Amino acid sequence: MGNCWGSLTDDLAASTTGHLSAGTSQTNSNTVSIGTSRGSNISRNSLFSASSGDEAFPNGQILPTPNLRIFSFAELKAATKNFRSDTVLGEGGFGKVYKGWLDEKANGKSGNSTAIAVKKLNSESMQGLEEWQSEINFLGRLSHPNLVRLLGYCLEEKELLLIYEFMQKGSLENHLFGRGSAAQSLPWDIRLKIAIGAAKGLAFLHTSDKQVIYRDFKASNILLDGSYNAKISDFGLAKMGPSASQSHVTTRVMGTYGYAAPEYVATGHLYIKSDVYGFGVVLVEILTSLRALDPTRPSKQQNLVDWIKPHLSERRKLKGVMDHRLEGKYPSKAAFQIAQLALKCLATEPKHRPSMKEVVETLERIQAVNERPRESRNRSTRRNIARQYGQQPMHHQSPIHLNQDKYRAHQNVHHVR
Ligand SMILES: Nc1ncnc2c1ncn2[C@@H]1O[C@H](COP(=O)(O)OP(=O)(O)OP(=O)(O)O)[C@@H](O)[C@H]1O
Ligand SMILES: [Mg+2]
Repeated sequence: MGNCWGSLTDDLAASTTGHLSAGTSQTNSNTVSIGTSRGSNISRNSLFSASSGDEAFPNGQILPTPNLRIFSFAELKAATKNFRSDTVLGEGGFGKVYKGWLDEKANGKSGNSTAIAVKKLNSESMQGLEEWQSEINFLGRLSHPNLVRLLGYCLEEKELLLIYEFMQKGSLENHLFGRGSAAQSLPWDIRLKIAIGAAKGLAFLHTSDKQVIYRDFKASNILLDGSYNAKISDFGLAKMGPSASQSHVTTRVMGTYGYAAPEYVATGHLYIKSDVYGFGVVLVEILTSLRALDPTRPSKQQNLVDWIKPHLSERRKLKGVMDHRLEGKYPSKAAFQIAQLALKCLATEPKHRPSMKEVVETLERIQAVNERPRESRNRSTRRNIARQYGQQPMHHQSPIHLNQDKYRAHQNVHHVR
């Protein structure tokens, strides 16, 4: 019987030796048992009554056991109109993600409906059981305003599903590279807000008592709520950090090409700072709206970091690669400072990269300078835009326009699996 991360220390020991057990025992092809040896809070009934902890613990917390609800397959079928195609929000390596609605019942009476996102394992998925289990063990116990909330799961026959809070604005990937209605260009201040939120989520993982290495930091795993608050999702590849005496854990190389740190791809040595590299790649994507890896670009430009790195160290060169949809409406000093920060995150040597705590501090300093009040002629226009993005009025915001000229290159991510 696997013990999940009922025992964090057990997992920590396991992770330093290499491949972390999924904590699941499969007694036959249909039966999977989830370790709850320390007595979990997994419940069949109320989840929505349970506090997310966001309000009470603005700096996040690690719960002793997963606080999750078990959903029935029938309930999820009803919530997603039998997994109807028009409820599909997106698709990744695990399977399709559907939008659903759950009725919250109070005293036996129907109350409000709550939107949820339901991730359903595709039978051909290579990621499958292990990542499903890891998501429950990690995300089920982590609570922070910048981590997406896992509400529960379903395990029936061969069906494996994960149920999350619904993130209204979808993924950062959709906004940076999407087409059609999902492709409204993000104003500068919102890009900065998203970078700070995502950085805080990673910083929490890295500085928590039991350090967690996220391992799959990328634009598609940064989800946005209705006010563009960023939350990290997908803990399928998360790992416990190294023990105090070690600098890294050794693992099978997994992650996404274009985002994975060079030392990790080359050696399988995974450092906390390997996540910082992935953050640096996302910073460059945020500045340029170019994908980390795009096989449709000319060969020398396919890998974004290789191509853009030399452009980050000079203001003039940076200007040439900034997202043209910003129409120059960004403070060039701040953009340059972010480019410098990205360069540090992308340092070849993990130890030369900043910690995520330092990254958060730097980004917040840049934001603070950015937001210094200044009189502006078109204040009313700004205010309208600010409202749309759930913000106090800010400077340097560009009007919103549709992304007509961007193509959506390979939606499929390139897993190093
Ligand atoms: N909680 C959520 N709320 C709203 N949309 C979501 C949610 N979770 C996922 N999505 C949407 O579904 C898409 C697919 O997500 P998923 O995590 O399955 O794949 P991915 O991140 O693109 O790739 P990978 O399998 O490598 O993680 C996301 O890009 C996002 O648009
Ligand atoms: Mg994902």
